[in-house]
Amino acid sequence: MRGVLITFEGVEGSGKSTQMARLQRSLKRQGYRVEQTAEPDGTALGQAVRRLFEQPRIHPTPLGEVFLFMAARQQHVTEKIRPWLRRGRVVLCDRYTDATLAYQGYGRGVDHDLVRELNLRATGGVLPDLTLLFDLAPAAGLRRIRGRRYDHFERETLAFHRRVRRGYLEILRAEPKRVRLIAAARPVEAVAGDVATVVEEFLRGA
Ligand code: TMP
Repeated sequence: MRGVLITFEGVEGSGKSTQMARLQRSLKRQGYRVEQTAEPDGTALGQAVRRLFEQPRIHPTPLGEVFLFMAARQQHVTEKIRPWLRRGRVVLCDRYTDATLAYQGYGRGVDHDLVRELNLRATGGVLPDLTLLFDLAPAAGLRRIRGRRYDHFERETLAFHRRVRRGYLEILRAEPKRVRLIAAARPVEAVAGDVATVVEEFLRGA
């Protein structure tokens, strides 16, 4: 089987990371060779980018945010994602190109075409084969993660998170074949059932 890239997207608290870990275990049991990774944390450079956002004296501009995530992405594709795909792996990635369009494009107002163009450059055309969009009202997502220390984006206003959600839904409308909606405001087991159905059907056709 050729390698496939499956990305997990959604607002804060949508449960995508939990679902990704479950899916990885289940695919491995079925004999798939699976790799699991995340943005921006997938490389040491990406981890440094995440830490930059947590420094109290550093306030990147919206376009600066785009460049930082793109630097992490280019490193990630080069060091990990492309080599895995060449080896025929199923690569599961927690956030990727759509996150920059949703957060920096729709959330912060950076020009959408510019984000799309930079995504193409940063990835060298390594784009997701399938994207699972975990959709949930942002207020419900933020309630779910209450109690953990909020990071830079989690501290943003509810209006910001609503723009991000709208952005993701626009991306879904534009690319309904690649992006599949997963209704995330349900118990973990029910969501996991939908994820398994969508992914297994996709992999059978891959
Ligand atoms: P996480 O909370 O899923 O670990 O993602 C890290 C944070 O970074 C999350 O708040 C979304 C944000 N982010 C962007 O704003 N743009 C991006 O391109 C990526 C990859 C993440």
